[in-house]
Amino acid sequence: MTDDMKKSDTLVAEMVHEVKNPLTTVKGLLQLLKPYLVMIEKERYADIAISEINRANELLNAYLNSNTSISPKRKLVCVNTVLEEMKLLFEREANVNRIQFHAELDPNFPKVNVCRNEFKQVLVNLVKNAVEALVEVKDNRMRVITLKTKMQGQRIHVIVEDNGSGMDQSTITQLFTPFYTEKSFGTGLGLPICKKIIEKHDGIISVKSQKSMGTTIQIALPSSPIDVD
Ligand SMILES: Nc1ncnc2c1ncn2[C@@H]1O[C@H](COP(=O)(O)OP(=O)(O)OP(=O)(O)O)[C@@H](O)[C@H]1O
Ligand SMILES: [Mg+2]
Repeated sequence: MTDDMKKSDTLVAEMVHEVKNPLTTVKGLLQLLKPYLVMIEKERYADIAISEINRANELLNAYLNSNTSISPKRKLVCVNTVLEEMKLLFEREANVNRIQFHAELDPNFPKVNVCRNEFKQVLVNLVKNAVEALVEVKDNRMRVITLKTKMQGQRIHVIVEDNGSGMDQSTITQLFTPFYTEKSFGTGLGLPICKKIIEKHDGIISVKSQKSMGTTIQIALPSSPIDVD
């Protein structure tokens, strides 16, 4: 490793370390606010915000400890609950941008053996892309994100659908290439990260899209329990 690489690694590690401090402060403030949210029956917002802060902290810790390669823990996760959480997580952004969430969740959808944080990370990236694709649409169509779960043979399917800007074929072929982005503010890492996580869970992520019409991203996972590592 060159001196320059060591220096930039140290800088990133220092930054990661320092980002944790404001997160701790925000988490403490949310815990203080929670009793007031209980009074108006909105404590779920605090719970989800706190769990998001925990998730960010775990990601940062995993980065700091990446030399010791901690493998994330898998457990049986209720996907429908995670999708319901997505609606709350993006509620404000959806309201501001006049986006509606629809859910078509199979009530008999089995629990899935995944790392909950990683699975959430995938859904956050997909819903964020859907919101951004809908914000780009300038006509006055009703902007909708549909979250679906369904069983199909030996596979379970989790689907995030939007009727936003859509993509042409050349974008679709480059989607999973790291740093490929068409956004001035994007890093182009969202979908490559999703693919890596889904494939680690023995799943497949696929895309259907039509320019100006919308996009469907489908995750297929094996329905039988996966060995916990
Ligand atoms: N739902 C979608 N609708 C339309 N285009 C999409 C959608 N999802 C992804 N894309 C296209 O794929 C590109 C890559 O997406 P990806 O999530 O990997 O990166 P990004 O969104 O540009 O940046 P980041 O996720 O790192 O903030 C996007 O720039 C966009 O052009
Ligand atoms: Mg993205």
